[in-house]
Amino acid sequence: MVTGAGGALGSELVARLTPPDAPSAGWASGGVVAVTRAELDVTDPVAVRDAVHGGLGSGDGPAVLLNASAFTAVDRAETDPEAAADAWAVNAEAPGLLAAACAEVGATMVHVSTDYVLGPLPGGARRPLEPDDPVGPEGVYARSKLAGEERVRAALPGAHQIVRTAWVYGPTGANFVRTIARLARERDTLTVVDDQHGSPTWAGDLADGLLALARSAAPPGTRHAAGGGATTWCGLARAVLEEMGADPSRVRPCDTASFPRPAPRPAWSVLSDASWRAAGLAPLPPWRDALHAAVVRHPDLLPD
Ligand SMILES: NC(=O)c1ccc[n+]([C@@H]2O[C@H](COP(=O)([O-])OP(=O)(O)OC[C@H]3O[C@@H](n4cnc5c(N)ncnc54)[C@H](OP(=O)(O)O)[C@@H]3O)[C@@H](O)[C@H]2O)c1
Repeated sequence: MVTGAGGALGSELVARLTPPDAPSAGWASGGVVAVTRAELDVTDPVAVRDAVHGGLGSGDGPAVLLNASAFTAVDRAETDPEAAADAWAVNAEAPGLLAAACAEVGATMVHVSTDYVLGPLPGGARRPLEPDDPVGPEGVYARSKLAGEERVRAALPGAHQIVRTAWVYGPTGANFVRTIARLARERDTLTVVDDQHGSPTWAGDLADGLLALARSAAPPGTRHAAGGGATTWCGLARAVLEEMGADPSRVRPCDTASFPRPAPRPAWSVLSDASWRAAGLAPLPPWRDALHAAVVRHPDLLPD
């Protein structure tokens, strides 16, 4: 079962689990039930319990639930109290509801979290971040995601897979890659933050990784999975211009202080793949190769 099936990650999970020519089948026959927000609001306790107990499929419920639903408007959560309440309901409470229902039907839950839950390393050190590095969420979104992790662990101690990722872009909706491509067509130069470091992650690669994890015998735990290597937002923007055949030097670097945003962003979000490899899983492809592959497969990421 996939929740949040209409999002960037959710749609890539669905593309892999239900190819267009696959016969429609409920989970009783080993099939997949993928639900968008319109089909299952994960904040509705009764609907969640009913859905996970088989109400949306044929049979007793899923073996594995992949939760791709989230409230991801991080700046709105910081400035709009209603959005903050939504962020808490979707990112903190709903994972607990889903996990409790999974416990009732004996399902494993694969839950996606974020680099934002992590804090700075002691002494300002800079090395790829491990799952047991100190947490230190700043802002509404970050705190809500950490609370979601905690609820999943508590409800499903023996059957959770929590995967923290970062800088995700997918084929649907607004994302950094699409925004930069649009701005590059509108302006001669762009100014982009160059002092935040992270690992851009193509949603399709993350979907492949989550499915490999779900099919593995990995013990329950919290792991990191993001595109290989690291860059800055400025570096990613320059790579987008390269993919467009444009001059990447049109992207000028600036610092975070010159581009204030409502929600704080971590300056260092580079995630280590050691926990992923230790589970016997293949690391996600290097971020730069992944960007090229994504725009070849989805040319609409770079709109005319
Ligand atoms: N995007 C990133 O840069 C990033 C970075 C690190 C971690 N993550 C994590 O990665 C996961 C996937 O994120 P994404 O990038 O795929 O986000 P996304 O594109 O915003 O997708 C989230 C999906 O969840 C749905 N949703 C929201 N509220 C819901 C509700 N009450 N019930 C059911 N569905 C609901 C959204 O529907 P609507 O569109 O209708 O609201 C959307 O389809 C999330 O856990 C996110 O926290 C993302």
